[in-house]
Amino acid sequence: MKSGLEDVIAAETALSDVDGAAGRLIIKGRSLDDLAGKARFEDVAALLLEDLFETAATADEIRRELGSARALLFPHLQTVDQTLLDLPAVDAMRALIARLPDAEDFAGAIWLMAAPAVFLPGLLRLRKGFGPLPPDPASSQAEDILAMLTGSPPSREQVAALDTYLVTISDHGLNASTFASRVIASTQSGLTSSMLAALSALKGPLHGGAPGPVLDMLDAIGTPEQAHAWIGSALDRGERLMGFGHRVYRVRDPRADALKKALRPLTETGQVAAQRIALAEAVERAALDILRERKPDRPLDVNVEFYTALLLDALGFPREAFTGVFAIGRTVGWIAHAREQSLEGRLIRPRSLYVGPLPEAA
Ligand code: CMC
Repeated sequence: MKSGLEDVIAAETALSDVDGAAGRLIIKGRSLDDLAGKARFEDVAALLLEDLFETAATADEIRRELGSARALLFPHLQTVDQTLLDLPAVDAMRALIARLPDAEDFAGAIWLMAAPAVFLPGLLRLRKGFGPLPPDPASSQAEDILAMLTGSPPSREQVAALDTYLVTISDHGLNASTFASRVIASTQSGLTSSMLAALSALKGPLHGGAPGPVLDMLDAIGTPEQAHAWIGSALDRGERLMGFGHRVYRVRDPRADALKKALRPLTETGQVAAQRIALAEAVERAALDILRERKPDRPLDVNVEFYTALLLDALGFPREAFTGVFAIGRTVGWIAHAREQSLEGRLIRPRSLYVGPLPEAA
């Protein structure tokens, strides 16, 4: 029995591979370096979904289908009431998605990929007392999300940065949410059920809920000079540093570098303050120094969430929405894994080791 199923192989997949020793991520035979900054979200969606449905679709077809689905889903935002607005944004988004029918076909997959992209920006505006902005079916997913969020056309650099983010986090081996998606798919419940389980797993701070707290940490540290002392005290209190450490990576998470690179054009065009990047770099250096000193036996490095926080903040997403944006990008991975699992057709049903008391007779 391995606590946390560490190193246990629980599925066979042709979708992605995480090499934790080399710090390498492969998505469908392509290295992250080949995809991040080069592919659009729709390209990686076509790549991941290829051969998993009876309907085959190119990236351009997926772009058109997602656009139409966003437009058809937009009226669902009219049903949002105060009960949903009182929930955290990601929970309200999950409640709206839960109303979509369970499907197993390509059309259902498109709806599930479009749903968080249209629901999240709409919910964020409703929470601020504004009306949701309608999607533009002709736009790409990244472009439309930013336009629905801010109400103005995004810059080329902003669209490219969000595309890089969505591509970078599209799939990542058998992480907790993807495993949840596969477990549900193995019972033949349907894709909506798989996605809801995955989203519920994602939002925890040990998985996709970390980037908001990363930003809280940067705000609390304030200046590069304070980084060392602040981090030392946080570790003295037994806290974990958000945005550091990983179950699989023993070196730097390659997604962190992809996202740091995506921030560069935004810094050059003044869309992110250079001081913000300088602070993050100082915090990263201090954290790595202190973690190396205090945990010499456990290599701990920066993970994807650290630069996610800076990137999504720079693009205008409030920190409460970060996990929801993660879900927009990861839904395609969840769906691909759910389909791979349901095509395999075998129920996932492990066993547990009973360590409780025995009946007296026994
Ligand atoms: N800060 C300080 N110490 C840490 C951290 C951290 N971020 N991560 C691990 N450690 C320590 C931990 O305290 C333990 O020390 P000791 O053996 O002395 O008790 C040792 O490293 C091993 O920790 P573990 O709990 O066995 O590691 P894990 O594989 O279960 O944890 C993790 C992985 C991501 C949950 C953990 O590193 C963590 O809590 N990180 C902070 C939250 C975070 O950034 N989450 C986002 C993960 S990346 C997104 C994704 O792909 O899901």
